[in-house]
Amino acid sequence: MPTYGRLAVTFERGEGAWLFDKDNNRYLDAVSGIAVCSLGHAHPAVHQALCKQSEKLVHTSNLYGIAVQEQLADKLSEISGMDNVFFCNSGAEANEAAIKLARKYGHGLGIDFPSIIVMEKSFHGRTLATLSATGNAKIQQGFEPLVEGFIRVPYNDINAIEQVLKQYNNIVAMLVEPIQGEGGVNIPASDYLNQIRRLCDQHNLLMMLDEIQTGVGRTGKFFAFQHNAIVPDVCTLAKALGNGVPIGACLAWGKASEVLTAGNHGSTFGGNPLACSVALAVLSTLESSDLINQASQKGELISAKFREQLRANSHVVDIRQKGLMIGIELDAPCTELVQAALEKKLLINVTGDKNIRLLPPLIIDDQQITLLVDTLSALISMHTDTTHES
Ligand SMILES: Cc1ncc(COP(=O)(O)O)c(C=O)c1O
Repeated sequence: MPTYGRLAVTFERGEGAWLFDKDNNRYLDAVSGIAVCSLGHAHPAVHQALCKQSEKLVHTSNLYGIAVQEQLADKLSEISGMDNVFFCNSGAEANEAAIKLARKYGHGLGIDFPSIIVMEKSFHGRTLATLSATGNAKIQQGFEPLVEGFIRVPYNDINAIEQVLKQYNNIVAMLVEPIQGEGGVNIPASDYLNQIRRLCDQHNLLMMLDEIQTGVGRTGKFFAFQHNAIVPDVCTLAKALGNGVPIGACLAWGKASEVLTAGNHGSTFGGNPLACSVALAVLSTLESSDLINQASQKGELISAKFREQLRANSHVVDIRQKGLMIGIELDAPCTELVQAALEKKLLINVTGDKNIRLLPPLIIDDQQITLLVDTLSALISMHTDTTHES
């Protein structure tokens, strides 16, 4: 089905931060398959895990014990400080699990119509429940009736949450991205998550973080919430967890970890031996390297270079960055930049029409950083000169 507006390029192979088309043209990948291939393409640890595990066992279903799934759950619990994990195959499914968990938690409290606070400009996926939670009318349009039970407030506005909490008595959870990705790399106040934690504790709500884009080292910590020294009740992961092999996870802590019980939720493929062994290889590669720390340094270097090169450009509204999640906001739509960059053999993304979003792999090196910043700064200058003149 024509559900994607694809660019006119097809890649045949990859190597680190590079992708190659059928004519062997080399492209610098500053998108990483939308925050997925953080270790780069064709990483040997991923390759080895795929080969080794597929020689032994690919899939058995969750009717039986899966040792490698248990190991992965233990590892994620150790890293997060949370108690248990449900595995699935995508980000939307991980959020579905979180939404179901929140509703069941509410019913357990005797709330018949449990509601979840969600944010404007958020993105949580394309299934019916997750698109209903998403704060973007374009994504919802045509799919009504939406799933009920979401109350929306502006992002990064604690006062708005406090008002809603005064108004309703059926709220059971909040679902929040620590940094909004699709929404345009929106970085909230540094204590935003701490304030949300405080309100959730005060009102007995589940604090649920969607770390599908921010997780697995992207922001300079394994989880973005670790910048705030808090633990959420529920946290969802997907994307970079399998470096391209589909896997999603919904982690729970404390009272949230006791909500879903046998028969409440499931997935045929979820947490199968193949996906889990790759995810374990991703985690051990991150653990034995300095890549997560480097994400902070590299991201700061990239944003400093952009600030330097674009400082005289009055059409650049803002440059936002946390780790290797980088947004450059222009004062006018700039989706054409994606094609212009492709012609320069650079892969970038534009979200919300005016926000250039960069999600380079964590393994990007200094030369590639220079190439990225020089190429894109020149393109932005050309673009803003032309749009300004016309
Ligand atoms: C924050 C966030 N949540 C959920 C999703 C949905 O993930 P998936 O496309 O794997 O279903 C995405 C995907 O971009 C995302 O960025």
